[in-house]
Amino acid sequence: MADPYRIVEVKPEWVVDREDMGTKTKFWYRGPDSEVEWLFKYSRPNTGEHWAEKIAAEVASVLGVRHAKVELAQFEGERGSATESFARGGRALYHGNEVLEWTVGDYDSKKKFHQSQHTLANIFEGMDRVFVRPEAASRAKRTLAEYAVLDALIGNTDRHHENWGLLWRREGDGLRGIVFVAPSFDHATSLGRELLDDRRDRFLAENRVGSYAEKGRGAIYWSENERRGPSPLELVRRAVRTYPDLFRPAVLKIVEIDASVFSQIVERIPPDWMTFSAREFALKLLYYNYEQLKEMVW
Ligand SMILES: Nc1ncnc2c1ncn2[C@@H]1O[C@H](COP(=O)(O)OP(=O)(O)OP(=O)(O)O)[C@@H](O)[C@H]1O
Ligand SMILES: [Mg+2]
Repeated sequence: MADPYRIVEVKPEWVVDREDMGTKTKFWYRGPDSEVEWLFKYSRPNTGEHWAEKIAAEVASVLGVRHAKVELAQFEGERGSATESFARGGRALYHGNEVLEWTVGDYDSKKKFHQSQHTLANIFEGMDRVFVRPEAASRAKRTLAEYAVLDALIGNTDRHHENWGLLWRREGDGLRGIVFVAPSFDHATSLGRELLDDRRDRFLAENRVGSYAEKGRGAIYWSENERRGPSPLELVRRAVRTYPDLFRPAVLKIVEIDASVFSQIVERIPPDWMTFSAREFALKLLYYNYEQLKEMVW
């Protein structure tokens, strides 16, 4: 068995700034030997948000999906995760809601819940408007399709319009610059992280992990008329049929990997950071989603 993942001990004197975006308590810090800032995110009590972030990032690495680097971390005795900033070296992050407000008709960028304008079609239309060259627009859409497939694999139901974005690096003094899709970030709402162990045990005993996966509601909608978004899996099922050029390659990336890597990733979470039930459940969910994704491209 490989070594457990390391745990970063964040010191109070490293703290740089609070982060007010998002719903969880968190702050930016910079360690003594680091040029780069990291975001420490506390894990909400009785949830596995910290291990979900770490496992998701490791799964993304294996798939070759661009993502923010994540470490398990501790601050003043509290557990959390730390994410390396990608908004550095002159790169500024514009969240999905800002991008869609500029590019898509009457997009309501302030709406926090049930934002059914946050559809795949609108996101892709936004990319077609931001990127003048069709190849650049396609590249951006392919990257976002990969994020949607990653979400389907890990059961991430929180890809709302502030959980993806574009990075803009200014060149020179004017408005010229390079724009590209920001690495995938904020995967805390995945892998059954909110469940308590007795519920996990029940799902496992009743062989209903698949039904948990199918019932999840994602934050990317299929149509503006829907009251709730489809599950991340169902979104990809529909997208593979409607946008095969974008989604088939993203799903095929998953089919190429050997599912045994999932257990190798999960078992590296230190023993007292994740219960046996949480590991069993997260793995069953990954295997179920993996098999479903495979079926979509057969
Ligand atoms: N790796 C990163 N590099 C740069 N900025 C980041 C990074 N990770 C997060 N951020 C910024 O910090 C904000 C909050 O982070 P994050 O989305 O992880 O927190 P959250 O509280 O889990 O959010 P939510 O309300 O979506 O659950 C993001 O919206 C983004 O603006
Ligand atoms: Mg967020």
